[in-house]
Amino acid sequence: MERTGLKPEEREAVKEWAGDERWVKREAWKADEAYMACVRDIMEHPVFLSMDGYYQHGRTTCREHCIRVSYLSYRLCRKYGWDYRSVARAALLHDLFLYDWHTHARETGDHFHGFTHPRVAMENAERYFQATEKERNMILCHMWPLTLIPPRYKEGYAIVWADKFCSLAEVGSGVREWFINNLRPALTGR
Ligand SMILES: [Fe+2]
Ligand SMILES: [Fe+2]
Repeated sequence: MERTGLKPEEREAVKEWAGDERWVKREAWKADEAYMACVRDIMEHPVFLSMDGYYQHGRTTCREHCIRVSYLSYRLCRKYGWDYRSVARAALLHDLFLYDWHTHARETGDHFHGFTHPRVAMENAERYFQATEKERNMILCHMWPLTLIPPRYKEGYAIVWADKFCSLAEVGSGVREWFINNLRPALTGR
């Protein structure tokens, strides 16, 4: 977060937003016309919509996670005057691996989802959405530094950061929800 150049109050706003499940559920991004102009075709595509069939973190589906990462990367790149259209599109597609990673290893023998899914997502992005070379590179390198080759474009780092930030917030809100639904009643009886 420190390296993003955000002011302390902006950091707080981003933290609050990323942990707020309601933002995604009420489809608040649709109100941002400039953002929608960049991504509408992807948002309405059946392959993209099918990502709601797979959970990513906690109760956040892959589609919801990708929208979060996309919108945050987009806002960041707009703020810096970078290529916000490419980043919005690549981030929407960055986890387009199209399977349930929770059961993937058992079903396929691939125990390295963390390393292999960027390439699967990139190939799907090319196949279904004719992703550009720049978008493909951002998708392929989004797990950096876990996967060793860093992004070629500065916008790729916005996705790397937004993905990690949103993932932590999603896991955090899952833990919070679990506490409210399970642990608190057990401890307090309400
Ligand atoms: Fe990913
Ligand atoms: Fe992700």
